[in-house]
Amino acid sequence: MTHLVEAHDLYRFQGEGADKLAILRGVSFAVAEREFTCIMGPSGSGKSTLLHLLSGLDQPSAGRITLRGKDLAKLSENERTLERRSALGYVFQFFNLLPNLTVLQNVGLPLAIAGKHPEHEEARLVGLLEKLGLAQKRSSFPHQLSGGEMQRVSIARALAGGQPLLLADEPTGNLSQKAGLEVMHILRRLVDEDGRSVLLVTHNPRDATFADRVLFLVDGELSKSTELRGPGLHVDRVHEALAALAI
Ligand SMILES: Nc1ncnc2c1ncn2[C@@H]1O[C@H](COP(=O)(O)OP(=O)(O)O)[C@@H](O)[C@H]1O
Ligand SMILES: [Mg+2]
Repeated sequence: MTHLVEAHDLYRFQGEGADKLAILRGVSFAVAEREFTCIMGPSGSGKSTLLHLLSGLDQPSAGRITLRGKDLAKLSENERTLERRSALGYVFQFFNLLPNLTVLQNVGLPLAIAGKHPEHEEARLVGLLEKLGLAQKRSSFPHQLSGGEMQRVSIARALAGGQPLLLADEPTGNLSQKAGLEVMHILRRLVDEDGRSVLLVTHNPRDATFADRVLFLVDGELSKSTELRGPGLHVDRVHEALAALAI
């Protein structure tokens, strides 16, 4: 099986001396192709820190990360940037769309930044917007969209380069219940219909039910005793696991 990303015994410390804090403590796991993995953990458990490391935006204090089999620490800064851009896209709680650009221009922006010509790839980008239910919105500006639509635009932008892996950090945290549910169905479809992989980190039990696999991060460590299998998990199973872990 091909793994898009592998984490081997990751540690991340913050601070020095007596103030030194272990944010991640020996985290190991992998995400396969066409797999939807969710890492659940309460606020402060190290979820965002972990995604930063996996994306090469930050470096671990110890341990090893591979993206598509390449050890990130062995790449030059430039190679790491190129690998990150082609391997993964990233979405957050906040959408970070540029207000003066249309939906289609926002989605094409990463291509422009990478020195490509988004206008030459318009048909593909419009196809991506269609998949995300945004076909009618390509010429709209961000302020004309709902929160759920803005998040879907940011997902399209994250995957505009054809990246196989989406990292999603609390992507429904700023959305209504209904809009959040729509975004979760979109993420599921990206895996089932588009063959991408999703790594979601969240503290939302409902969102976890969409994943193929739910891991639990507690104080910077992945639980060795508890792991759930989906998709189609009942939300009660997630609540039970959280209660058993006392988080
Ligand atoms: N740059 C930093 N300096 C100091 N502490 C940090 C830094 N980044 C994160 N932390 C701490 O690390 C812990 C985990 O943070 P984070 O990864 O943001 O958790 P989560 O995303 O699960 O809420 C928190 O206690 C946070 O305060
Ligand atoms: Mg976070």
